[in-house]
Amino acid sequence: MPKPSPAGAAGLLAWYDRHRRVLPWRAAAGERADPYRVWLSEIMLQQTTVATVGPYYQAMVGRWPTVEALAAAELDAVLHAWQGLGYYARARNLHRCAGIVAGELGGRFPNSEVGLRALPGIGAYTAAAVAAIAFDRRATPVDGNIERVVARRFRVTTPLPAAKAELRRLAGTLTPARRAGDHAQALMDLGATVCTPRAPRCPHCPWRARCAAYKAGDAEGLPRRAAKQGRAARHAVAFWVERVDGSVLLRRRPESGLLGGMMELPSTDWTETPPNAAAIAGAAPLKARWRPLPGLVRHVFTHLDLSLALRAGRVAAGTVAPAGCIWARLDALDAHALATLTKKSVGHALQARAGALSRGRRGAAGARDRSA
Ligand code: ADE
Repeated sequence: MPKPSPAGAAGLLAWYDRHRRVLPWRAAAGERADPYRVWLSEIMLQQTTVATVGPYYQAMVGRWPTVEALAAAELDAVLHAWQGLGYYARARNLHRCAGIVAGELGGRFPNSEVGLRALPGIGAYTAAAVAAIAFDRRATPVDGNIERVVARRFRVTTPLPAAKAELRRLAGTLTPARRAGDHAQALMDLGATVCTPRAPRCPHCPWRARCAAYKAGDAEGLPRRAAKQGRAARHAVAFWVERVDGSVLLRRRPESGLLGGMMELPSTDWTETPPNAAAIAGAAPLKARWRPLPGLVRHVFTHLDLSLALRAGRVAAGTVAPAGCIWARLDALDAHALATLTKKSVGHALQARAGALSRGRRGAAGARDRSA
């Protein structure tokens, strides 16, 4: 005898069949999902919204339609295609994972959570999502949206993050043995379109009659959250070094860690207080007459709030780039994998330079006027 489905599972699936979102990575109703596309989309959707991922996903599957094609790509090309999505370790792990699947697993993704978790870049959430959506395994991915739906349905009042384990356990009790992938996607859609953080549309919810928070009238207040710790402030000075032939100095970040493998402006370490003169001098990548540029570049990472001051210098044609750095043509910076922080810094430096040029021109004109 098959086990009966968890309460509400059939109603949620019926709702999904009528209201499912059309998403670029989603197989049409009744069609088999392509594990490569499911995996690729789930990696891209880690820490990034559906709306942002859409065009990036289309571009990536258009260019690399199979795991073999992605494995054969240059890492730099993948990082470049990822530019702007953030959390660049994902792109490096994506490329490594494609290499393993194409090279060691005959092009086939493992079809179990355990097998998937052994691959780079695949954590508990992504393993469960891929196992359920691509292979219809009875697995339960639980992200922030699903935590919210579950917290409300069971009226869990313990604040996050302490409630996480309990919410995961409860979410598991909701997953049916059949159509687990559709169930997972139904929960994602419910969280995105009905059980929203603010002003949930409870009258449209297929679980209205089963929802403890709806009955108690406090759905919008759940889940509760413990007060957040602030982001740590960090300070650094970066160097905008132009060579007279129209190129600028870029440095490659270490492969592991924040913005791993991306190109950046050379800088001091990021420290809790602004670096002093000795630290700045010690971090200068070349000998030059350094000019501070006005203003600061601010960039917020998940846990850090970075304030970057810029120093500009010019060096002669033929100056050799120091180890770990390259000269990049200013009119072809797009060819490099630049993190958003670096793009902001480049924009800031170019703006400061344009301001200096126009002041220079005004000054020169004034001088001509006086001499005339
Ligand atoms: N968020 C994470 N994975 C998702 C998916 N497959 N569909 C919609 N939103 C998601």
